[in-house]
This record gives sequence, C-alpha cells and structure tokens, in this order.
Amino acid sequence: MCGIVGYVGDSNAYDILIKGLHRLEYRGYDSAGVALINADGKLNVYKAIGKVSNLESFCTEKDVKGGTGIAHTRWATHGEPSDCNAHPHFSEDGEIALVHNGTIENYKVLKDALIENGCKFVSETDTEVLVQLIEYIKKHTKCPLLDAVREALRQVIGAYAIAVIDKNNPDTIIAARKSSPLVIGIGNNEMFIGSDATPIVEYTKEVVYLNDNEIAVVSKNAPLKIINLDNEEAKIDVRSLELSISQLEKGGYPHFMLKEIFEQHATLRDCIRGRVIDGGRNVIVSGVMDSKEKFLNAKRIIIVACGTSWHAALIGKYLFQDMCRIPVEVEYASEFRYSNPVIDERDLVIAISQSGETADTLAAIQMAREAGAYVYGISNVVGSSIPRNTDAGTYIHVGPEIGVASTKAFTGQVMVQTLIAMAIAELKGTMPKEKLVEIGQEILKIPEYVKQTLKLNDQIERLSLIFTYAHNFLYLGRGYSYPVALEGALKLKEISYIHAEGYPAAEMKHGPIALIDAEMPTVIIAPNDHLYEKIVSNVQQVKARHGSVIAIVTEGDKEIRNLADHVIEVPAVPECLTPIITSIPLQLLSYYIAVNKGKNVDMPRNLAKSVTVE
Ligand code: F6R
Repeated sequence: MCGIVGYVGDSNAYDILIKGLHRLEYRGYDSAGVALINADGKLNVYKAIGKVSNLESFCTEKDVKGGTGIAHTRWATHGEPSDCNAHPHFSEDGEIALVHNGTIENYKVLKDALIENGCKFVSETDTEVLVQLIEYIKKHTKCPLLDAVREALRQVIGAYAIAVIDKNNPDTIIAARKSSPLVIGIGNNEMFIGSDATPIVEYTKEVVYLNDNEIAVVSKNAPLKIINLDNEEAKIDVRSLELSISQLEKGGYPHFMLKEIFEQHATLRDCIRGRVIDGGRNVIVSGVMDSKEKFLNAKRIIIVACGTSWHAALIGKYLFQDMCRIPVEVEYASEFRYSNPVIDERDLVIAISQSGETADTLAAIQMAREAGAYVYGISNVVGSSIPRNTDAGTYIHVGPEIGVASTKAFTGQVMVQTLIAMAIAELKGTMPKEKLVEIGQEILKIPEYVKQTLKLNDQIERLSLIFTYAHNFLYLGRGYSYPVALEGALKLKEISYIHAEGYPAAEMKHGPIALIDAEMPTVIIAPNDHLYEKIVSNVQQVKARHGSVIAIVTEGDKEIRNLADHVIEVPAVPECLTPIITSIPLQLLSYYIAVNKGKNVDMPRNLAKSVTVE
C-alpha cells in the first residue's frame, strides 16, 4: 500500500526520492508524487496518476532541484486515483507539504470544522485534513512546525505514517507514526525516511524504526530527535539493516515472482539453518524455548492471519493438532477482531504475516493481548510492527519478498510452523522421538527436494499454454493438501485474473461438482499420503463428468497417472512436508498462465503487498 520516502541532505533529493519510489512500487499503488524545497526556499509539488515513470515524465523540465523532499506512492482509499488526490498534499498557503500512509477516521469532523473556519480543500482525501490542520494550528498559535504537527496528531483518530516539510524550515522533515510503519535512515549529514528499508538500504545500514505515537525531527545537520505526543523525549534505538541491494533486484529473472519461486531451495535452507541440528535429531526454535511454559500450558492455539498467510495458518492447524495434540482454531484476522472472540490467558495466539504490517493482523494481536492471551508472531520483515507487538516469535528469514503474490514467504511460514510444532511435540512428548528424527532428517533434505521440484519448470510452462484461456479453475485437495488447493487458487486469481476456487476435495460433491464440464480444468493435489485412496475417487468423479484433470502426485504414482489428463510428479516427502513441495508447481502454473496472458505479474491490479489499512 502507500509508500513514503523522504530525504534531507546535500545531494539532489529528487533523484533519491524517485529511486526510492521505484523500490516501493512493489507495495502496490495508483499514483505518485513528490515535494521538494529548492535552494531559493520554494516548495514545489509534482504529482501524477499511474506509475512512477509517469511522474518522472511529468517532472521533465520542471524544477526538481533541492536537498529536502518527500515523496509518495498512493493506493487510493478516500477519493479515486487522480492527480489531485495523489500526495503530497499541501497547505492552502503553499508552505507545508505532507505525505501520509494510513486512514484518518475522524477526517470528516475535522474537515467540517476547518471549512467552517475558512479553509478550502482541493482533494477528496482524508490526508488533506492533516496538512490543513497543521497549517491552521501553526498560524493561529504561532508555534513551530513540530508543535503544530504534534497538536494536530493529538486530534486525529486513525492510523498514520506521515512526513511533513515546511519551506520556512528547509533542512528538516517531521515524521510520525501510529499503526503504519516508518523507518529513518541515518547517514553522514543526510537522513532518509522510508515506509520500509528498501529505499534506504542503498545509502545507509543504520536505521531507527519509529514506534507508535512518536514524532521524529529529521534534520540534515542535527542529531535525530524523537518525542512522543506528550512532548517527552524518546529513546533512540539504532539498528543495523540486514538487507542487501541484490535482494531487491531481479537478478536476471524477468519477474520478482519467478526469482522468488526459484529461490525457495535457498530461502528454506536459511529458514532451517541453526534450527534443525545434529543431523536432524533435534529442532531448536529459540522463540519457543523462551515461551516454553506458554506452549506447554496452552489449552488452545488460535492462529490469525490474512490471505496467503491464512492458508499457511490452515496448514499450521494440521501440524499443531497432529504433532502436539493441541486444539487449533484458524481465523481471518479481519473477522476475528470483530467477532467478539472468547479468549483468555490460557490461549496461545499465533499471528502470521509476511510483511509484519497487515493492519487487521495487528489489530487482532492487540485484542488478544488485551484479553490476556500470549501472542507469538511469525513474520518475515525484520523490525516490522508484528514482531514488535508480540510477546515472542520467529522470523522465517526468507529475505525480502517483492512480488505481490506471496511464494517463498508461504513455504517459509509452513516450514517455521513445522519446526515450532516439532519443538513443542518434543517438549510435550506427543510424538515418538524416532518419528521426529525421521522428519528432521527429511527437513534437511528439503532444499534438495525443492531444487528437484523446480526442474518441473519447463513441463509446467508448456502445460500453462493449454490452460491460459480457461475462464474458471477448480483446485481440490484433502488434509494437508486442502490449504494448498486454496493457495493454488488464490495465486491464479490474483495474477492472471482467472476465477479459481479451492475446495476440500470431498466437499466437491456438495456443490462445486455442478460446475464440472470439459471447459473447466480441475487441479488436484494428490501426494501419496493417508488420504490418497480417497482422492483417487475424487479424480474419478471429475473424470466421470468429462472434467479435465491436472494432478500433482508423488513420483512413481500409478493410479492417478492412469486417470488424470496431465500429471506433475513431485519428490516423495513425509506427509507433513508435502505442502512445501506441492505448492511449488502451483506457483509456477499461475505464474506462466499470467505471463501468457500478458499480465503484470509482480504488480497485479488493485493489490498491495503490505495491507496497512483495514
Ligand atoms: C497473496 C498475498 C496476500 C497476503 C496477505 C497477508 O499472494 O500475498 O494474500 O498473504 O495480504 O499479508 P501478510 O502476510 O504480509 O500479512
């Protein structure tokens, strides 16, 4: 969703800001803009609907000089995508410019009050209220910008990350956050601001993650200062970035999504490293060790997540129930938070999120903590809000995921849950040690199995040509493969815009079977697990109705091979590890279908990588 970049220093801000906006494109957006203070103290604001490249074209031959600037990619919430609604917004007197990520819930009340006092608005956004309010307070109380921002934020209800510049104070950016991420990069006589570290990493490794209700004074020649809304000075916690530029580039692949699919043998190796030890005999997950009592005493686990992470959570349900014999409920964070859930201190809530910033997941965490539950986070982005708002947790360590369609994060989330379940099973004694060792040994071979699975690339690319113009797909699976079916369908929908439904295979006969005909392909995930014979009959049911079947099966499969129209064979792994392997051909299938259709695979329409509004 919206992305913010800011720069103050001796270099030309525009170049750094535009590069930064390109780095933030992956978050999803529909317009972009930049505000710059030039050497004569003039504030220039340029905005354009569409891609950052449109903004660049618009800025050709404009005055883009100046060492201080803020920039933004907007994902529309209040007001359609347009030049006028794009950020930065500026005050009526043209002195202050502001960019914002989040939503101002009480903007209507504030806007009406400002209009009554003579303010004129030009956009339909909630954001413009903030900049007009800041100007109003500054003018009427004759206070410095910092005080005006602080006072304005005290009146605001909602979520925000903002960056503000004032032409009367050209060497400073005021930045603030509440429930939307903001990172400050510390350079040599220059400072950077970003919604995440991607626009910053090229210039500095020293960063400060702003906390909720904090306001930062980011200046060229003065040390960083952070205060809270009560004007008390806050501690500055400088962290070192573990991110490299190469992780943010396509590395020779045509799309980030393909790069990320192909990275999975390495990302899973990173995810396992140091956690599966002694040749697979032992599994150590430090977050679990720190929360041992909580896991041992949990009467129930509730897993909250959204989208692909929710599919990973469903796999977690099978893992925790199978291995640890703890009852598990899996909830969409957006439903959980409004369902008046019954939670208490013996519940253990696990929140899964790649970005660590999903607004609904964050709200669910807060609710669970207020109800006394212990909250454990599983995230990818180091320093993001979810790891900072949970009691303990585990990073999946798969590196930055730039493609909007989640791939390597999904397999990382499943892997981390497997490790957590194994660690708890060992502590609780709910699984025989030999079985745990057997799985541990196979986990160490997973990077190799993934490499083998990726060799299916050419076969799947050819197969995709047959199905590119299908209008509907059905994905079926049972047990551990049911969430994989859901995930396969989601991948296809989001990047190729083909309607696809994931279903538990046996449920098919309670409805979706009516859809089956020769026009609708059915993808059946049928590894050789304890439900194999059951799914064979589901394949027969589809074939009996002239449906076309693409089956993902285990190498050496005999029965389904004779029934299905197309068979994709993956390496044999223990049942609990099958989702990691069977999801890969589905990622490739949706990737190639979307490419064949000429779709923008990395930035599908309407989608955002980091969903920071509810
Ligand atoms: C789908 C996808 C989304 C995310 C969802 C949650 O490919 O990426 O469905 O999984 O928006 O995001 P995180 O995991 O960042 O909380």
